[in-house]
Amino acid sequence: MKIILVVGARPNFMKIAPILEELKKYPDQFDPYLVHTGQHYDEKMSKIFFEELGLPEPDRYLGVGSGSHAAQTAKVMIAFEEVLTAEQPDLVLVVGDVNSTVACSLDAVKLHIPVAHVEAGLRSRDRTMPEEINRLVTDAISDLLFTTCRDADENLIQEGVSQEKICFVGNVMIDSLRKFEGMAEISPILDTLGLEPGGYGLVTLHRPSNVDQRTSFEGIIRAFGEIQTRLPLIFPIHPRTEKMIAELGLQSQVAAMDNLRFVAPVGYLDFLKLQKSARLVLTDSGGIQEETTVLGVPCLTLRENTERPITVEVGTNQLVGLDQERIVRAAMDILDGNEKPGRIPEGWDGKAAERIVETLGKNFSEW
Ligand code: UD1
Ligand code: UDP
Repeated sequence: MKIILVVGARPNFMKIAPILEELKKYPDQFDPYLVHTGQHYDEKMSKIFFEELGLPEPDRYLGVGSGSHAAQTAKVMIAFEEVLTAEQPDLVLVVGDVNSTVACSLDAVKLHIPVAHVEAGLRSRDRTMPEEINRLVTDAISDLLFTTCRDADENLIQEGVSQEKICFVGNVMIDSLRKFEGMAEISPILDTLGLEPGGYGLVTLHRPSNVDQRTSFEGIIRAFGEIQTRLPLIFPIHPRTEKMIAELGLQSQVAAMDNLRFVAPVGYLDFLKLQKSARLVLTDSGGIQEETTVLGVPCLTLRENTERPITVEVGTNQLVGLDQERIVRAAMDILDGNEKPGRIPEGWDGKAAERIVETLGKNFSEW
């Protein structure tokens, strides 16, 4: 069974790595082929993850780069169609909800190649979020839908997806976390940045709804301004966010904060270490809501909705929206010792890739 696995953007690498590793254990059964669309291309958004996660060089690099949604999606579609035509795989496996995910799924389904979607069924119910459209479309055309949580199964069933296509396997991102947390423990990042365990807050932001609009971004920055008077904040900055600070002319506002420090995006091991040792995490990332839940670190999600409600219902995540006062109050509450207790969701146990590959093996004869 020839399987093309697709990666494109930062959150894809830690999801594909354990699946590829597991597939390679069964060379008689599976012939995996790795395609990197090149949606993310900076060394610190791409190459560093190949090195740290032990991912092999991709079999094909499409080099699509950045662009508008239409341009980027179209470029991936044109380049990936050629790969499919040349390689004739039995299955295309995509993860997550980025533009590369939907583009490659559309290509495959039009060529009658089955698609497996890992992390299916997540819904924010916010159609202004580009990822929500990617999720809806990818799930609607996928043949096998691997889910991380039971609410995702329910979402899919409500949308009319037949039960036989849905397979709850747990969270493959946590497979990587479990595999690499020991190595992350010895990362020197705290010393490098002069940080004490528990003595800082970790920040990431990159959602267009937060950083592409002046009003929302300014409000968030003002909230950080208040929080950093009590807790130093470290902010590995996403390239979109860096670009928007310059475009919106917000440099002087962020520079005025003595205890808010920007650093370039960091590698996976350093980032795991930064999360684990943080007093709290402020983020709009999808994956970081999940990782903080597993690490038991308080997480404040600066969004009005989440496609990962389990991290709020079961985990340490709190959805605090974009209101400055609300963000500051929630952070101060944590600093005052009022932490929300959390548990690890079902199936987030480091064995999701095993279950995915077992299921693919069972379906092998049917493809
Ligand atoms: C993308 C995904 C988002 C995911 C995020 C993870 C879509 C629609 N969005 O958002 O779901 O959460 O990745 O990080 O697929 N840029 C660089 N270097 C890079 C990559 C991007 O400078 O290596 C800059 C470019 O100016 C680019 C901008 O960042 O225009 C946005 O990149 P893009 O891939 O379009 O979206 P992200 O915001 O990264
Ligand atoms: N991450 C990282 N370095 C960083 C920021 C994030 O290694 O500077 C990792 C993080 O641990 C998680 C993934 O990147 O595994 C999340 O990606 P991102 O926030 O870019 O995307 P999202 O999950 O929001 O789609």
